[in-house]
Amino acid sequence: MDNKKNYKRTLITAALPYANGPVHIGHLAGVYIPADIYARYLRLKGEEVLFVSGSDEHGVPVTIKAKKEGVSPQDVVDRYDGIIRDSFARFGMTFDIYGRTTSAMHRDHASAFFRKLYDKGEFIEEESEQYYDPEAQQFLADRYITGTCPRCQNEHAYGDQCERCGSTLSPTDLIQPRSAISGATPELRKTRHWYLPLDRHEAFLKEWILEGHKEWKSNVYGQCKSWLDGGLQPRAVSRDLDWGIPVPVEGAEGKVLYVWFDAPIGYISNTKELLPESWEQWWKDEDTRLLHFIGKDNIVFHCIVFPAMLRAEGSYILPENVPANEFLNLEGDKISTSRNWAVWLNEYLDELPGKEDVLRYVLTANAPETKDNDFTWRDYQARNNNELVAVFGNFVNRALVLTDKYFGGKVPARGALTDFDRETLQGLSEVRQAIERELDSFHFREALKEAMNLARLGNKYLADTEPWKLAKTDMERVATILNISLQITANLVTAFAPFLPHSSAKLREMLQIEQPKWAELGSSELLSVGHQLGQASLLFEKIEDAVIEAQIAKLQAAKEANAAAEAAATPAPTVAEDISFDDFTKLDLRVGTVLECTKVPKADKLLQFRIDDGLGGRTIVSGIAQYYAPEELVGRQVCFIANLPPRKLRGIESQGMILSTEDYTTGQLRLVTPAELVAPGSPIK
Ligand code: MF3
Ligand code: ZN
Repeated sequence: MDNKKNYKRTLITAALPYANGPVHIGHLAGVYIPADIYARYLRLKGEEVLFVSGSDEHGVPVTIKAKKEGVSPQDVVDRYDGIIRDSFARFGMTFDIYGRTTSAMHRDHASAFFRKLYDKGEFIEEESEQYYDPEAQQFLADRYITGTCPRCQNEHAYGDQCERCGSTLSPTDLIQPRSAISGATPELRKTRHWYLPLDRHEAFLKEWILEGHKEWKSNVYGQCKSWLDGGLQPRAVSRDLDWGIPVPVEGAEGKVLYVWFDAPIGYISNTKELLPESWEQWWKDEDTRLLHFIGKDNIVFHCIVFPAMLRAEGSYILPENVPANEFLNLEGDKISTSRNWAVWLNEYLDELPGKEDVLRYVLTANAPETKDNDFTWRDYQARNNNELVAVFGNFVNRALVLTDKYFGGKVPARGALTDFDRETLQGLSEVRQAIERELDSFHFREALKEAMNLARLGNKYLADTEPWKLAKTDMERVATILNISLQITANLVTAFAPFLPHSSAKLREMLQIEQPKWAELGSSELLSVGHQLGQASLLFEKIEDAVIEAQIAKLQAAKEANAAAEAAATPAPTVAEDISFDDFTKLDLRVGTVLECTKVPKADKLLQFRIDDGLGGRTIVSGIAQYYAPEELVGRQVCFIANLPPRKLRGIESQGMILSTEDYTTGQLRLVTPAELVAPGSPIK
C-alpha cells in the first residue's frame, strides 16, 4: 500500500458504541464489520495488529433512560454493555480488548489526561448562563429543552434546532422553554466550564489534514475541510451532571468530563487495561499506524477534536487514517433506536442462528462506503440465495462431492493442461493482488467482490468443463479438472477468511487443511496430491420466503406501533383563531420554479434553493433536506412567502420561506405546489 512510512504495527480502533441500546446493522455495516475485516486481513498477513473497542458508558442519554426506568445509570450501562459484548462475541468480532469507560483504569487515565491539559494551560475557563431544571435539580443539555420556535412558532422545537424550519437555535431563543425531563420551566443559572480552544489548533489541523492527508476518503476529507474552512471555536469539555468522570480540579464539584472528551480516551485506557506494560508503544511510537473506524457522525470528533486533545497533551501519535462510512438505512427509512426501526444484532443472532456470515456478506457487499445505502430483507435473501448458495456454496460442494465420488475424497493429480486450465490458473494467481489493492485502500465492497470473483471463476470452470460427463471416457481429464477445482477451493479459505470467517473455517475443516499463509493466496499447489479431504457439508443454505416475510412483518409491526404512539401523542391540528381578509392579503404568496437546489454544508436539515420568482431570482434556505434529495427538486414549482424580511441561516441570506405541509401522523414535510404549471412569480390569491 502507499504508506508514507513503513510502519511496524497497526492499532485499529472501532468507535465505542453507546451502552444505552444494543448494536444494530447500521453500526455493523458502518464500523464493526470493516474494522474486523481489516484486523483479520493484517493478522493473516502476519502483521502486528491491535484491535481495540469498548462500551461508551457516560453521557446524558444514559441518565435519562435510567430515570425513566427507575434504575441507576450504572444498571443501564451494565445491561447494555452485557448485551453488546455478548452479541459481538457471538458474531465473531476479534477485538483484542473490548473495555468499558466505567472501568477504574479508564476513569484514572481520562482524569489524568484532563489534568495534564489543565496544568499545561491548554483549556480556557469561562462562566456562562445555562438553563437549569429546578425540579430535576440539574442543568439541561440543549437537546433536553423544548419550546416554541421564535421563527416559525413550532411548539416542539429543541434547544439546539427547530426541526420544522431548520433554524439553528440556542436554548435561550426558545419561547416558553420547558425541560424535556420534568416538564418544568427551566431557569438560567450561572455555571463555569472548561473549554478546549480548538482555534489554537486550527493552523496545525489545516496543514495536517488538508495538506497532509489528501488520501483520506473524500467524504471524510470533505467534512474536515468544511469544518476547518468555517473556522474552529472553543468547545466545552465539561458538563454539569452527576454521571461521568469528575472534573479533577478543586472546586469543580458536580461537574464531569463531557462524554466526547472521555470516550475517545477510552481507546487508550482500554489498550492500557490489556497491556499495562507496553501500551505506550501502541500510542506513542511513531512507528505505529493508528486507524480509527467510525461512522460519519463521528468524523469531527476523530479528525478534529481528539487529535487536538492528543496534540495538546503532547506525547501521543495522531491517526494515519480515519476510514469513516456513511449511513445504512433500513427498508428505505433512517435507522432509529428510539423508533425501534432497526435490525438488532442480538435479535438477529437469536432468530437466524448460524447466519453470522450471511449478514457479514450482505452488509459488506452493500456497505455505505461512499454514500448512504439501504438494507432490505429481499436483497438479503437474494444475495444469500443467488450469490452465497448458487455460486460459492455450489462450486465448493460440487468440487468436494465429485472428488469423493471418483477419487474416494483424495486429491487427484493434474495431467496435461488445456488453454482453458491455464487461463483459469492465471485468474487464480491474480486474486491476491486484486484483493490487497482494494483492502489497502479501505474499499471493502470491492475487495469482497474480488473474493467472490474467485468463487465465480471456479463455478464457471466446473460448469464449462463438465467433469461428470467425462468420467466414463477420460479419468485423467477428470483428475486434472478436480485438482484445479480443489486448488481454487483451498484458496477460497484464505480469500474469504477476512470477510466470512465462520464459513472460511468450516471450509478449511472440510478440506482438512491448516490456514494457508496470506502470501500463498493464488497458489495452485495448496493441496498435495493424495491429501485426504474431510466430509463435505453445505456451506450455505437457501433462505425461504417465510423467513424473510417474518422479518418484514416484524418491522411492519414496529412501524405500526410508532404510528399509533405518534397519533396518540399528536392531536389532529385544531383550527386557529379567525383573521381578517386584510391579514391574509398582507402575505405576498407566490409560485416560483426551482433553478438550483443544493445541500447546505454541515446542516443536515437545510437545502439552499435558487428560485426563478419572475423578479430576477432569489435565494431561499429551507429545512426540508431530510425529506427530499436536492436533485429531485430542480425544475419543480414551489410556493413561497415573498415579503418576509431576509434572514441569515448558516451564513446564507434566505429571502423568504418555502411552504410545505407537515403530515401530522408521520411528521413528514411535503412541498406545497400548484396543481398545474404557472408562470414563475404568479401570486397566490
Ligand atoms: N459512542 C459514540 C457513538 O456511538 C462513539 C464514540 S467513539 C469514541 O457515536 F471515540 F468516543 F470512543
Ligand atoms: Zn422553527
